[in-house]
Amino acid sequence: MERHTAFTALRALLLSVLLVPDASCLGNYTRRLEVYVNSFSCKTDCICSTLEAPTLANACGFSKQPFFMTTVERLLEKQCDLVDPLSCPDTGNKLADEVVDFVVIGAGTAGCVMANRLTENEDWKVALLEAGGPEPTGTQYPGSYFAYSKPPPQSKINWNFETEPQENACLGRPGKRCMWPRGKVMGGTGVLNGMMFMRGNRRDYDNWAAAGNTGWDYESVFPYFLKSEDNQQIGDVYKKEYHGQGGYLTIGQFNDHPKMADDIMEAAAELGYRSRVDLNGESPIGYTIAQANNRDGARLSTNKGFISSILDRPNLFISMKSMVTKIVIDKRTKKVKGVQYFKDGRYRMIRVMKEVIVSAGALQSPQILMLSGIGPKNHLKHVGVPVIQDLPSVGSNLMNHVSYSVNFIVHNSSSFEDLNMDTLTQYLSTRKGPMSSTGMSQVTGLIRSKYAEPDLQDIQMFFEGYLGNCSVTGENDEPLRTGTKRSVTITPALLVPKSLGYVRLRDKSPFSHPLFHLNYLSHQSEVDVLVDGVRKAIQLSETKALKEYQLELDRTPVKGCEKFKFNTDSYWACAIRTMTNAENHQAGTCTMGPSPNKAVVDSTLKVHGIKGLRVIDASIMPNVTRGNINAPIIMIAEKGSDLIKADWK
Ligand SMILES: Cc1cc2nc3c(=O)[nH]c(=O)nc-3n(C[C@H](O)[C@H](O)[C@H](O)COP(=O)(O)OP(=O)(O)OC[C@H]3O[C@@H](n4cnc5c(N)ncnc54)[C@H](O)[C@@H]3O)c2cc1C
Ligand SMILES: *[C@@H]1O[C@H](CO)[C@@H](O)[C@H](O)[C@H]1NC(C)=O
Ligand SMILES: *[C@@H]1O[C@H](CO)[C@@H](O)[C@H](O)[C@H]1NC(C)=O
Ligand SMILES: *[C@@H]1O[C@H](CO)[C@@H](O)[C@H](O)[C@H]1NC(C)=O
Ligand SMILES: *[C@@H]1O[C@H](CO)[C@@H](O)[C@H](O)[C@H]1NC(C)=O
Repeated sequence: MERHTAFTALRALLLSVLLVPDASCLGNYTRRLEVYVNSFSCKTDCICSTLEAPTLANACGFSKQPFFMTTVERLLEKQCDLVDPLSCPDTGNKLADEVVDFVVIGAGTAGCVMANRLTENEDWKVALLEAGGPEPTGTQYPGSYFAYSKPPPQSKINWNFETEPQENACLGRPGKRCMWPRGKVMGGTGVLNGMMFMRGNRRDYDNWAAAGNTGWDYESVFPYFLKSEDNQQIGDVYKKEYHGQGGYLTIGQFNDHPKMADDIMEAAAELGYRSRVDLNGESPIGYTIAQANNRDGARLSTNKGFISSILDRPNLFISMKSMVTKIVIDKRTKKVKGVQYFKDGRYRMIRVMKEVIVSAGALQSPQILMLSGIGPKNHLKHVGVPVIQDLPSVGSNLMNHVSYSVNFIVHNSSSFEDLNMDTLTQYLSTRKGPMSSTGMSQVTGLIRSKYAEPDLQDIQMFFEGYLGNCSVTGENDEPLRTGTKRSVTITPALLVPKSLGYVRLRDKSPFSHPLFHLNYLSHQSEVDVLVDGVRKAIQLSETKALKEYQLELDRTPVKGCEKFKFNTDSYWACAIRTMTNAENHQAGTCTMGPSPNKAVVDSTLKVHGIKGLRVIDASIMPNVTRGNINAPIIMIAEKGSDLIKADWK
């Protein structure tokens, strides 16, 4: 059937189904839909049930009226490219107790790149161990961004970490703890993220190199940014000299953006910023509608980009629902022997001939090292883990980008960016419309506060609103227009944190969440930068370009800050410390550096003092980069895999 005639028919059918008042008929109607839709969008039998995966209806949090969101999910599952092939029986369970050349721990942003690049050598057997399961289909339309960052049971693909109570930040959050969503799924946190593709500032890398990390200056890492990239928009804005083509990762702006995104570009220009520019090009400073890792209107995690297409490599062994409990190391020779993990209710062991690569992310890579006896000696003794290698800085140097969201009420909004019948059918048939983007979250600015050094951004502006994410069904089972935000937030984030935190083990159980001590905002100068960011957010809202929206700064005082006069610097400082937000750019906990007293890995990413062990993910960043960090992590994995190949030639 031709796609566009099917479009009208599908819409009619969906409407008739949705008008059925009793949600208990769901089973029957879903089956009828499946029969119908099979002939429409999918020639082959692509459904390998994701039914046991966390459902979209759950992620959207509507246990009473799951009907519409369930229908959305069943329909998405009929579009083969949205279904993770790892959800098919047996694809994810090739691993028996075995001997392999390499084990990669964690199939997140970095781990998937590692598994791909190492299996390019046909003589190497590589095992990829991941605690989570396949990517749920509901995560694949970009509009669902953030729905799966909820705590379980609403979303089962989130580790759902929370920090230790804070003294200077998150004071108004429950227990003074900040929440940290992290992906527990193939693709890792790259399945929860906003997909924004940012490289940071070249000085970030030049500083790494200046600190003794040979080969990590911008000129040296630049080719590794290009290697994975397949940029779809090469031209006047995204110039060829700054971008790669032909890599595994399709990069481009989303297929849709709210009108307000364009108007923010005008507003930024009005204030004298560079706008609609390539922030990965000539200069990283300015405002833009960001490029993102997405393909055909769908999310493109590194699992989908680097793993889905190579599942037929006979030397790749993926084991999901496999929780690594420790790396087994010979105490005398300090050489890695294997990896112990827990799967289907029992402990198992893989023997390793060459190397173990820890890619469990900035929060769990240090945890795994410590569980294996590598870390600060006194701490390991304290929790009862036998010490193999005293490495004092495992877990320290924990950094993140802290932020604060300023809320604006939108009094005049003609545009609706919803998940409803129209936008659903539009997405299914053309992969365009509000479901195909993250709404206002694709807009960003990298800018300088009044305290910044020349040419170095120290604030990133994030936006939120106009998101086609979830919908609920109303009294007549008509989806409501709830996804539309009648407010938008502008969120300045601090790009150069001075406060450093640290990760420690709670106890010696590998199943306990680690302890995250942050010390967010322990320097007043960090708050000052954010206050300046708030001022710049308000300034943006007051431009001529945004006048038609009649934006009104939300004057509801933050609880606990009533004693300060609204809109004074001291009010904003209080608000920032009380309703602190965090971006999710944790880094630095297995930091790279030449000295074993101050760093965990050397410039070839090998763990100091241990043979056959590397850490390759966000943990190795000596300083967090000035922007989102997914692209830099992919670069680190690309470079890391070349370093390994060079060693085993
Ligand atoms: C809501 C949100 C929005 C974001 N938006 C953006 C954005 O727009 N752009 C951007 O660049 N970045 C963004 N980020 C950040 C970015 O996604 C992360 O920094 C990045 O994915 C981290 O990659 P990683 O490889 O270091 O770790 P992860 O991707 O977290 O991978 C770690 C993997 O290891 C697994 N694992 C951990 N412990 C074990 C164990 N013991 N055994 C087995 N497996 C284990 C985990 O399950 C996970 O799959 C966002 C993050 C969040 C949460
Ligand atoms: C589904 O249909 C069958 C017969 O067509 C009926 O007996 C059954 O009750 C229906 N199930 C639901 C959940 O409505
Ligand atoms: C980390 O950032 C600080 C502050 O910008 C800088 O002084 C230092 O040189 C950086 N270190 C590394 C290793 O990049
Ligand atoms: C997603 O949708 C729900 C329901 O419409 C809404 O309450 C929520 O705020 C939305 N999330 C985001 C990040 O916009
Ligand atoms: C409201 O917005 C519409 C366009 O979206 C615009 O034409 C109209 O002038 C605006 N109204 C006011 C009072 O600004």
